[in-house]
Amino acid sequence: MPENVRKYWYHRYDLFSKYDEGVELTSNSWFGVTPEAVAVKIAQHIGDSVPPSKKFIIDAFAGAGGNAIAFALSGRWERVFAVEKDPEELKCAKQNAKVYGVEKKISFVNGDCFNIIKNRYSHMREEAVIFASPPWGGPTYQAEDIFDLSKMEPYTLKKLHTSFSKYFSEMVFYLPRTSDLNQLAALVKDGDQIQAIHYCMTGFSKALCAYYGDFADIQKP
Ligand SMILES: C[S@@+](CC[C@H](N)C(=O)[O-])C[C@H]1O[C@@H](n2cnc3c(N)ncnc32)[C@H](O)[C@@H]1O
Repeated sequence: MPENVRKYWYHRYDLFSKYDEGVELTSNSWFGVTPEAVAVKIAQHIGDSVPPSKKFIIDAFAGAGGNAIAFALSGRWERVFAVEKDPEELKCAKQNAKVYGVEKKISFVNGDCFNIIKNRYSHMREEAVIFASPPWGGPTYQAEDIFDLSKMEPYTLKKLHTSFSKYFSEMVFYLPRTSDLNQLAALVKDGDQIQAIHYCMTGFSKALCAYYGDFADIQKP
C-alpha cells in the first residue's frame, strides 16, 4: 500500500462502515471520499431543508460515491444523478453503491460535469438541487490557515458557482474547513443569506458545506 494512503486506510471504517463487504477505492478517492457519518448528515440536512418539489439531486463530482450513496440511502430523492469524469472512480462508485444496496437508485454518468449539466440537466432548476464536492487541489490544502477559494484547483469556487447557478438555484458546495468565509459571502446577492455548516468528527471539523439558495434554517431541530 502506498505510504500516502496508509493513514487513510487506518480510518477505512469511518469512510465506509461496510468497508469489508467489498468497498473499492482508487488511490485518489482514499483522501477525496466524504466519510460516511458526514455524508449521511449532509444528506439529511439537504433533504430536510428543501421543499418536496425538489425531487432530484445531482452529485457533480461523485468520486467513489460517498455522498451519492448517502443521498440514495436517505430515501428522500426520486433519483440521484452521480456525475464523475474518471471512469475508474465511477467504477468504484457503482461497486460501493452495490455494497450499500442502492445502485438502482443512482444514475451513474461518466463525463465532465460542466458539459453534462449543461446538456442533460439544465432544464431541472425547479426540481433539482446540485451538490458539488470538487477536488481541493490535494492534501496540501491543509497547509493554509485560511484557504483561498480563488486558488482552489482545478476549479475555483467562483467558476463552480457561476457555472452551476446558470441552471440551479439551490447549490451545496463541500469545501475545506478553513475556507475564506468572505469569499463565500462575496457570491451572495444583496439581501440573500448563505448558511455555512461545519461537519465534525472526533472533535474536529472535516469540512464545511456552503448552502446557496432557498434552504430552510438547517440548524433548526
Ligand atoms: C473530492 S472527489 C469527490 C468525492 C466524493 N464526494 C465521494 O464522497 O466519494 C472529486 C472528484 O471530482 C472528479 N472530477 C474532477 N473534475 C471533474 C469534472 N469536471 N466533472 C466530473 N468529475 C470531476 C474527480 O475525478 C474526483 O473523483
